Amino acid sequence: MSAAKILVLHGPNLNLLGVREPGVYGTTTLEGINQALRELAVELSLELDIVQSNSEGALVDAIQGAMGTCQGILINPAAYTHTSVAIRDAIAATALPAVEVHLSNVHAREPFRSHSFIAPVAVGQICGFGPDSYLLGLRALAKRLGK
Ligand code: DQA
Repeated sequence: MSAAKILVLHGPNLNLLGVREPGVYGTTTLEGINQALRELAVELSLELDIVQSNSEGALVDAIQGAMGTCQGILINPAAYTHTSVAIRDAIAATALPAVEVHLSNVHAREPFRSHSFIAPVAVGQICGFGPDSYLLGLRALAKRLGK
């Protein structure tokens, strides 16, 4: 059987990790997170398709593209978490298990960050653990997929 494939999606401004508000998001770059995910994927026998975009439509396109090619979605929707019905609907349309992750604890910040349009269509949400949120999320997804 071929390895399950996971779409890893990073939303807007996450390309600036490392320099962006390091007091909130830490100093690990996006490439650092992706490298750690790739190493964990080998351990979990998963394949990853990694996409970052600052554009809502490109994220929707990537989610739609996962239909029939990926078995799960690991997503940090970033600011679109709090605004995007389109990303929520795209995830629901794929019917793929999705795990929502955030570097920061969105529930301990400004009140508007506590609301997620994505959480109701996700298997679960992991936040507040910095880059480890992604790694915990990938493990959770692997377990959900029986890996
Ligand atoms: C974030 C939290 C969001 O509220 C914010 O807009 C981001 C990053 C996080 O990973 O902590 O861009 O998703």
